[in-house]
Amino acid sequence: MSAVAPAGVAGSLAVADPLVVEGVTVRFGALAALADVSLRAEPGTVHAVIGPNGAGKSTLFNVISGVYRATSGRVLLGGTVLTGQRPHRVTALGVGRAFQNLAGSPYESVLDNIMIGRHHLMRTGFLSAGLRIPSARHEERLHRARAREIAEFLDLGERLHVPIGILPYGDRKRVEVARALATEPRVLLLDEPVAGMNAVETAQMTATIRAIRASLGITVLLVEHDMTMVMSLADRVTVLDFGRVVSDGTPAEVSRDPAVIRAYLGTGDEDTPAVSTGKEQP
Ligand SMILES: Nc1ncnc2c1ncn2[C@@H]1O[C@H](COP(=O)(O)OP(=O)(O)O)[C@@H](O)[C@H]1O
Ligand SMILES: [Mg+2]
Repeated sequence: MSAVAPAGVAGSLAVADPLVVEGVTVRFGALAALADVSLRAEPGTVHAVIGPNGAGKSTLFNVISGVYRATSGRVLLGGTVLTGQRPHRVTALGVGRAFQNLAGSPYESVLDNIMIGRHHLMRTGFLSAGLRIPSARHEERLHRARAREIAEFLDLGERLHVPIGILPYGDRKRVEVARALATEPRVLLLDEPVAGMNAVETAQMTATIRAIRASLGITVLLVEHDMTMVMSLADRVTVLDFGRVVSDGTPAEVSRDPAVIRAYLGTGDEDTPAVSTGKEQP
């Protein structure tokens, strides 16, 4: 896995701004999918958001990325208010998102799929690129070089020209992450990046996320059900249950928290670790 240099082409350098969620409530009719949720994801960390099904994790990602509107509360990246902005603006402001379900165009190559992430960074539109205006072709070349770099970072360098539809599942999921990275995000939202992966693919994705944190300085907000992975990778964990934050702390702290035990097991048995850290004795 090669290091990816800071954005060379019209990208933004990772800036040391926290992502702050302030008292966000989202109502769907009578249901509060999120109720007064606050969290703070520090720059250059992996911050996990966990909780049982229906807890509000995807709703939170949808609010941060501008897909859902908050009923009240705010999301800020440094001094910039993200709430109220449209999704493409939120992307441009530095929030990249990899979706839980496979997206992308199956018949198009790895490289072309990654390039989709760069469209908002390209000054010349497709029309002038299509008309082969020299400056547009030059810009396109620089963006393709950056897309290739990102592909190499994600171990997709050998597959650049392969249609993504025929890739193994693990590679296809890494194309999703590559496309999100191609937007040059300061915050990367990963929704269940290892769901459906085998052990080898999971280990590879975990290593990739570590490398993103280590070499790109990006804040990773991670929704994931694989608790072994979350507990080994996350710097901090926020636990949601029925739309509320029931715990927030280091993996060790939340895995001991009775509120988390109740959320997952419906009991207050404090002798049982709430979530497996993968490290306890058999
Ligand atoms: N667009 C929507 N309209 C109505 N209810 C929704 C919508 N999106 C989510 N919900 C509800 O909000 C709650 C939280 O859902 P979600 O955020 O998807 O949970 P999670 O991702 O933690 O499983 C659920 O009760 C869900 O049915
Ligand atoms: Mg969900």
